[in-house]
Parts: sequence; structure tokens; C-alpha cells
Amino acid sequence: MKVSVSILKSNRSNEETLKKINLTNADYIHLDVMDNTFVDNASLTNEEIIKLFKDTIQPMDIHLMVNHPKSYVDALKNLNVNDFIFPVEILGDKKELINYIHELGFKVGLSINPDTKVSIIRPYLEYVDIVLIMGVNPGFGGQPLIPSTTMKIHELNYLRSINDYNYIMSFDGGVNSSTINLLKGIDMVVSGSYVCLGEDYQENINKLR
Ligand code: DX5
Ligand code: ZN
Repeated sequence: MKVSVSILKSNRSNEETLKKINLTNADYIHLDVMDNTFVDNASLTNEEIIKLFKDTIQPMDIHLMVNHPKSYVDALKNLNVNDFIFPVEILGDKKELINYIHELGFKVGLSINPDTKVSIIRPYLEYVDIVLIMGVNPGFGGQPLIPSTTMKIHELNYLRSINDYNYIMSFDGGVNSSTINLLKGIDMVVSGSYVCLGEDYQENINKLR
């Protein structure tokens, strides 16, 4: 199981948090980008992100919690990015955006909010590399995992196996050393506050694994 560490909720500065993540064997750094529209919270500006992440070691797993992802993709594409994830709930041509991100050479993910049914993401499953199952309503770190969201792991696993799809399932929100037991079968987890509010990041990552 891969681990992507989110820097959204930490008791240190972003610079210090990133330095500490860089010393671990985390697979990715999860960056939550917010526009104060799709979610009720705003994140760093693109300029601040570029400055902060220009020397990070782990590739970035960029979670765009925004209504218009394309301009963020364009602004951040020169960083060390593994994937861009955007919400299935936004309006606009999602297939076109998936193709656009693929043509730039990145992996593409779609996220699915707690109240959104798997049937809504189903038409896109054959095209994406990642499905990000949201365990909380997006926007803030440190929220408790909503248990019903974990059923989507089974649904998406089933759809993947009967259709031979290739996406990985990632889970974001409320992941810690006890809720990890609800996530059997998941390929990757995002963890923010559990890892970054602790002292020993590596030990917390090991416990999740
Ligand atoms: C939630 C974000 C998450 C958040 C996770 O809106 O998408 O990535 O940082 O934080 P924790 O692990 O504290 O729930
Ligand atoms: Zn996230």
C-alpha cells in the first residue's frame, strides 16, 4: 500500500513539514489545492506552491478541490508531479480534461465526495489512473472518517475486476492507525494530520503500512 502525505494540517511551517516528509519513505506528497468555491477554504497561491515545492524529493500527488482545474494544471505542471486529481462533481467536460492531463504526461485521478454515488464516476473509470475516495467532505484536514464511504472500496474493486480497469484506489480523509483497518483492499492512502501532527513521521507512516 502506498502512502501519500498531505501537508494541509501540520503543527509546523510548510517548509519544515516538507523537510520532515522528505526524510521519510512516503511515496508521494499530497497537495490540496482549494479555490474557496468548490470547498469553503482557500489554499496557497500557485506562486507560493511553486516556490515551496521546487526542491521536494517525492513526486507530488496534486488534489485539485476546485471548480476549474485546467488553469491549476497549467500553472503547476513544471513541478515534480505524478498525478493531478480533480472532482467528479464539477461541471464541464471531464473526459476532455482527463485527455488534456494525459497528453501532458501525467497520471489522472478523479475524486468522489462522500455523498456522491459510484454510478456518477462509473462512465470515467476506464480512462483514469486513480480514483480518490473521499472519506470526509473536502476542505479541511483533521476531520473524522465517515464510515459509509469505505463501502466504495468494495464497489470500485468489483467494477475494476469485472471490467479489467487499471485504476488504483486511493483514500483521503480521516486516515489514522485505527481507521486504516476499515480500508482493506485499498491501494494507497492519503494521510495528513495523523502523520504531520506527530513527532516521528516515519513511525506513523510505518504504522499505516
Ligand atoms: C481534505 C483533504 C485531505 C486532508 C486530509 O479535504 O483533501 O487531503 O489533507 O487530512 P487528514 O488526514 O487530516 O484527514
Ligand atoms: Zn486531499
